Amino acid sequence: MRLLLIGPPGAGKGTQAVRLAARLSVQHLSTGDLFREHIDRDTELGRNAHTHMRAGLLVPDAVTIGVIQERLARPDTERGFLLDGFPRNLAQAEALDGILADAESRLDAVVDLEIPDAEVVRRIAGRRVCRRDNAHIFHVEYSPPEVAGVCEVCGGPLYQRDDDREATVRKRLEVYRGLTAPVVGHYRAKGLVTTISALGHVQEVLDRALVAIGRGQVDASGASSC
Ligand code: AP5
Repeated sequence: MRLLLIGPPGAGKGTQAVRLAARLSVQHLSTGDLFREHIDRDTELGRNAHTHMRAGLLVPDAVTIGVIQERLARPDTERGFLLDGFPRNLAQAEALDGILADAESRLDAVVDLEIPDAEVVRRIAGRRVCRRDNAHIFHVEYSPPEVAGVCEVCGGPLYQRDDDREATVRKRLEVYRGLTAPVVGHYRAKGLVTTISALGHVQEVLDRALVAIGRGQVDASGASSC
């Protein structure tokens, strides 16, 4: 299965992507995590990306498309993939369509996470991520680790991302509305998009996402399960 998870910063894309990818046995590809790995390794690409990320801006398309094209060419995506944070503007969406068409492949579904700005601010303000693996995500109030400041998956130190400051978050939301939201329309026109609420417990959102992609069930009360 080839999926795309889209939504504003802090909507819970990373949180859901890890769970969905495990459930579907597909590769989770997050451009944000790929850039943060480059930043940690202090590569030239990482230093370039960091300048844009700190300002809440998109990393230039040439860099981003190159990174994802290289990643999609690796054999571990042959069974499928879940894209988290890419594409983020129409040029990236068209590039992805081209990459997949060249490989005689296509997206199966797009899940669009909907969330009010006030909840985005609460989620981002309390987010802590693991220095060893950015896919290990916690929240000081909603999903605190057993020991404060320590990742309960691998024991790594938790930290607050430097693009999670309030002014940067406001910029990221503005960029999302201006550049990324039109990507939803691009895929809606192809009949691929299901919009779901990102509110509620992590498991509830996961259940909704599974229903949206045809891998869950809706019971008589209207609640979804899998
Ligand atoms: P990226 O890392 O992709 O950030 P983002 O899209 O802004 O999304 P976030 O990672 O902030 O949030 P999320 O939706 O994953 O939420 P999470 O699961 O962590 O990108 C960062 C930057 O990299 C960009 O600004 C840009 O500069 C650059 N970049 C990346 N991709 C690019 C591209 N394609 N082109 C150009 N530039 C690119 O959850 C948030 C918090 O909420 C956590 O604490 C979590 O524990 C909590 N939470 C999650 N779900 C729930 C729930 N149901 N209930 C309560 N709490 C919850």
